[in-house]
Amino acid sequence: MQNYAEVVRDFVEKHATGLTVAFVAGAGLLAVRRWLAGGVCRSKVRLDGKTVLITGANTGIGKETALDMAQRGARVILACRDMTRARIAADEIRQRTGNGNVVVRKLDLASLQSVRDLAKEIRENESRLDILINNAGIMMCPKWKTEDGFEMQLGVNHLGHFLLTNCLLDLLKKSTPSRIVIVSSLAHEKGRIHFDDINLDKEYKREVSYRQSKLANMLFCRELATRLQGTGVTVYSLHPGVIRTELGRHLIPTLSLWKRVLAMPFVMLIKSPWEGAQTTIHCAVDESLAYESGLYYSDCATKTPAPQALDAAAAKRLWDLSASMVGLA
Ligand SMILES: NC(=O)c1ccc[n+]([C@@H]2O[C@H](COP(=O)([O-])OP(=O)(O)OC[C@H]3O[C@@H](n4cnc5c(N)ncnc54)[C@H](OP(=O)(O)O)[C@@H]3O)[C@@H](O)[C@H]2O)c1
Repeated sequence: MQNYAEVVRDFVEKHATGLTVAFVAGAGLLAVRRWLAGGVCRSKVRLDGKTVLITGANTGIGKETALDMAQRGARVILACRDMTRARIAADEIRQRTGNGNVVVRKLDLASLQSVRDLAKEIRENESRLDILINNAGIMMCPKWKTEDGFEMQLGVNHLGHFLLTNCLLDLLKKSTPSRIVIVSSLAHEKGRIHFDDINLDKEYKREVSYRQSKLANMLFCRELATRLQGTGVTVYSLHPGVIRTELGRHLIPTLSLWKRVLAMPFVMLIKSPWEGAQTTIHCAVDESLAYESGLYYSDCATKTPAPQALDAAAAKRLWDLSASMVGLA
């Protein structure tokens, strides 16, 4: 034993500088990682007797959000396009939370018919809807079109959710106080709405399309909040952070090997899905937000969005255009 202690002491004395550097670097990395993890939703509010619908809840931050809502006792509806993955996620959520009231429903946001079918089913079979979370998203895919001929990222991220929300508004109004949470992104900051070429037919760039769709989320939130003033339905948009999910599935395979290798250490620093879900959960349940509407959040706090997300005329124009595109005008 004595011998062992001496060996350790000897090692520490010989490598004092190296060990100090390693300790400081480790502590620094931990501090940076903790800072990057962002805010945590501290609300302990229960959701017994309430119903929550989350789009794209079979994986990523949508699944983490669904898990949290189930833990709080809500009836949780996972609205997903892949029913096999949705059932696996629902089974896991039921098992981990002990909440048997977790169901799956079919929703393909790239099909207006699928959106209408889900909304009809919800209106006919659910007595209430307390929280709608527009979470599903697709990022930087090739130039694809939805079933109805819309550019895919705009179609899924904005137009599908625009139609779904509008079709569920009466039920949300009947269930007040109720909330609509729209998962946008920091990417909106470099976005603009191409009113003259909304489907980017003239020139398609995958990042331009993603940014446009996320700015559309922000403008939708703003205009919806204006239209819902005084109804008891409040609306929130948010940036969840940069998170380890499947969102990069269309981007990562197109990157060169050296870029992927270079990115590896940074992957360790970005948020886990649980950390990434915190701002969505905050917007969905936190009592302090009950009388806020139309605002933008990041790391569980309000944040000033880019100026183009505050343009009321653009928000109104996008609403009218979206309504005519999805057949609501
Ligand atoms: N991860 C990040 O760093 C980050 C940053 C900023 C914003 N966001 C936003 O966060 C949200 C969630 O993303 P995530 O990171 O959790 O990504 P994810 O792991 O790829 O999850 C996306 C979800 O959306 C679903 N989805 C995609 N296309 C759909 C369609 N046509 N119809 C119905 N559902 C569809 C996916 O279903 P399948 O599994 O069937 O494809 C999946 O459930 C997105 O709105 C994204 O823009 C994420």
